[in-house]
Amino acid sequence: MSHAAGDLLATDIEAYLALHERKSMLRFITCGSVDDGKSTLIGRLLYDSKLVFEDHLAALEADSKTVGTQGGELDFALLVDGLAAEREQGITIDVAYRFFSTETRKFIVADTPGHEQYTRNMVTGASTAELAVILVDARKGVLTQTRRHTFLVSLLGIRQVVVAVNKLDLVDYSAEVFAAIEHDYRAFAEQLAIPSVTCIPISALRGDNITAPSPNMPWYDGPTLIRHLETVDVDDDTQRRPFRLPVQWVNRPDLDFRGFSGQIASGMVRPGDRVRVVPSGRDSTVARIVTADGDLDQAVAGQSVTLTLTDEIDISRGDVIATSAAPPSAADQFEAHVVWMDDHEMLPGRSYLFKIGTRTVPGTIAHPKYKINVNTLEHTAAKTLTLNEIGVCNLSFDVQVAFEPYADNRDLGGFIVIDRLTNATVAAGMIHFALRRADNVHWQAIETGKTVRATLKGQRPCVLWFTGLSGSGKSTIANIVERKLVALGRHTYLLDGDNVRHGLNRDLGFTDADRVENIRRVTEVSALMADAGLIVLVSFISPFRAERAAARQRVGDGEFVEVYVDTPLDVAEQRDPKGLYAKARRGELVNFTGVDSAYETPEHPELHIDTTRRSAEQAADEIIAYLTDAGFTTPA
Ligand code: ADX
Repeated sequence: MSHAAGDLLATDIEAYLALHERKSMLRFITCGSVDDGKSTLIGRLLYDSKLVFEDHLAALEADSKTVGTQGGELDFALLVDGLAAEREQGITIDVAYRFFSTETRKFIVADTPGHEQYTRNMVTGASTAELAVILVDARKGVLTQTRRHTFLVSLLGIRQVVVAVNKLDLVDYSAEVFAAIEHDYRAFAEQLAIPSVTCIPISALRGDNITAPSPNMPWYDGPTLIRHLETVDVDDDTQRRPFRLPVQWVNRPDLDFRGFSGQIASGMVRPGDRVRVVPSGRDSTVARIVTADGDLDQAVAGQSVTLTLTDEIDISRGDVIATSAAPPSAADQFEAHVVWMDDHEMLPGRSYLFKIGTRTVPGTIAHPKYKINVNTLEHTAAKTLTLNEIGVCNLSFDVQVAFEPYADNRDLGGFIVIDRLTNATVAAGMIHFALRRADNVHWQAIETGKTVRATLKGQRPCVLWFTGLSGSGKSTIANIVERKLVALGRHTYLLDGDNVRHGLNRDLGFTDADRVENIRRVTEVSALMADAGLIVLVSFISPFRAERAAARQRVGDGEFVEVYVDTPLDVAEQRDPKGLYAKARRGELVNFTGVDSAYETPEHPELHIDTTRRSAEQAADEIIAYLTDAGFTTPA
């Protein structure tokens, strides 16, 4: 490849910049492991485009001589791995974006490490890519990993795939080997309906078919890798799609100015355009498009702007401002692909945070409808998803959000899932469609409210939530507390784990997922009973903080009293009223709390009852005293 642009850079920087400015840009991702030659390939692309810094090159030549895995030749892998090492010192970013350019195009390549977290990294790297280069080692052919990468790439909406069959030099530049791999690959990819697949035989190490046609493969008459990347048609239709601006923040420096800032996800906007705010559905007109460099006459997808509107309407972060002619829908229930990326399995029914567009909302994931075997693309039944598994699930958000199917709009159809306690990103997903049932189920207005029901009983309702190990004494204490409340004329109900598991929850066992569902249901029931005006006592192990927090949120902080019945494991085990600890120790009972299933101790319970220091009767008195102080025992 000639480097006229590089020469120009040396002589006329203005002209160089002008040329550079006009070049189109391609974002792509490379998939494969270091063994497939990914680092070598990226190093080669950077080197051949001559945008590697001179001092890096000098270091590379020295390193290649000392490390010497390539017999004195430049080891391009060192170049990339060297950068990777620097990056690791900077921590946290798992995806490195590298920039290079040729005479006709600029490139951003997302380099995703191939270790066990690759799904997470690939999803991150691929979410903005238009093309994927999938590396296949010519000696190994199409592997599970190749299929997994291809499936993810298609799921993430990448329409252009290049299969770089690497290390052809190690198979004597065999046309047959290449043809067999291409055949295998296409057979798999066809099932995924990827619009464009191009297979190129290369040797990243030797430079075959990277920038210049290889003399070693006269049988190949397709493009070189660079040529293909330079000329591939990346039809980016985001500018032609209807206008959408997910609001990142509301800019209100003083009372006279109220602007809505964010990056335009699709389409274009001009002052005077009619817009609709979703989900609220309010219409207005664009007054100004404000930027740091002054007002604009128009702005398009990709630009970050601040809009002002002609009307004073309520808009907050996470809302979407869209063309009123074709606004996105709003919904709170969806079907979606979910790619699970956490070591802890997905827990259907647990409250997670979902970040979609610029909106973050609480919600839950239902049991997967199925999960997908990435090798065969078969659908199999699944109760949950574990690390790197991909499934199709229904989602239910606590509130309505503006959305579009992922296939139409990556920004408004893609989401990530965040664990509420650890803040870790545990999954990513793509919305297929909103569930129609959400449109057809409405809230029915009921005239008789909670206050009326409670007043009739002359009391303030609440939920007394007892949590603790099996055998800790929860039920014994709850039972005495209920007796005392009834004696005081209060209307109560005691929901006990063992009892409820004979009826409503008889379909549930003791896996983490089943316990989450167990607590989700009893939370709902207790909230309904409190709504009925009752003082509800809940006695369940309820081992997870997340579900107890969700119960607190559902019931409402002022009416939720968490009682931690604290009995050390050895004491509970000694008491062993039902003989279950003994069974668990003998291995006859699995997933037993405290033995081989976790109990997460409460951090801020309203009441912490140490049962080694007081009798059940005293514990109950302490709880009644608390309730009296809080005004729950006296007639309201
Ligand atoms: S929870 O963890 O889902 O909240 P829950 O309170 O409903 O548990 O049920 C606990 C009761 O089920 C225990 O008191 C015990 O009698 C019984 N049990 C049976 N198997 C187990 C188990 N593997 N772990 C804990 N409790 C069990």
